[in-house]
Amino acid sequence: MVTICFANNKGGSGKSTSCSNLGSALAKLGKKVLLIDGDMQMNLSLSFFDEEKVLAFAQEEQNIYRALLEEEDLTSYIKHTDDENIDIVVSTTLMSSIEMDLFSKWQREFVFRKCLKKIKKKAEYDFILIDSPPTLGCWVMNILCASDYVIMPVEASPWGLFGLANMFDFLDKVNEIAPDVSLLGILVTKVDERKNYYKQTMETLHSYENLPVFDTVIHTDSAIEWAQDASSTVVNFKRSSRSAKEYLKLAKEVDGKCQ
Ligand SMILES: Nc1ncnc2c1ncn2[C@@H]1O[C@H](COP(=O)(O)OP(=O)(O)OP(=O)(O)O)[C@@H](O)[C@H]1O
Ligand SMILES: [Mg+2]
Repeated sequence: MVTICFANNKGGSGKSTSCSNLGSALAKLGKKVLLIDGDMQMNLSLSFFDEEKVLAFAQEEQNIYRALLEEEDLTSYIKHTDDENIDIVVSTTLMSSIEMDLFSKWQREFVFRKCLKKIKKKAEYDFILIDSPPTLGCWVMNILCASDYVIMPVEASPWGLFGLANMFDFLDKVNEIAPDVSLLGILVTKVDERKNYYKQTMETLHSYENLPVFDTVIHTDSAIEWAQDASSTVVNFKRSSRSAKEYLKLAKEVDGKCQ
């Protein structure tokens, strides 16, 4: 079993879209996947349930915020989705104050790791995929400390690359207390080949020695937005679309790298 989180403090870089679609694509390969929505925006949850359901879940007494506060095992917080290979722990707007609550905890960077311990031990899932918010605080540090790998989605834009330096510094800090978490790869998203900047982005990324960059890139595709409008992933909503095929290719690449 492998735990992978999606992190980048640059907002809108494709974390939630990639987390949900990689989950769907791995499920199509027959892998059992647990998704965990760590962002109060609840975008990952909205890819598997409609708005009404997500809001209802978010108000349940049993929610991820409470689990973290009480340092409880997350097993009973898991929901089944329509896809038999995908389960999910949904998020809640209460997560907006998690930073403050973690601050006073003993071993505050490892609270989430404790909540996941039993699920990992049971090893019922092939992959746990965690979506994170666009911040670099104690909560995202908790997410990284609970992961084996991180995928950093990067938009092919100048500001997209600018934010990466912060991410590398942050990963260095994480490695001081959790030495085993490593970068699985940079995933270039929202690619528009008509724009020259895409080529420059790829050249810049490949110029760094030892920087893992996925061969698969994700093109800008309106099918992604239509899928999100239908509370679905593009892999489930329109498998013939370019982005669905790309996420299926990414799933094979990720699976290969994690063997
Ligand atoms: N390949 C794509 N083609 C078209 N639109 C995309 C693509 N990937 C993501 N988007 C859109 O870009 C926006 C940002 O994507 P997403 O929410 O996945 O990013 P994020 O990194 O999770 O954002 P945040 O930092 O706010 O959590 C969304 O509106 C999404 O629909
Ligand atoms: Mg997001």
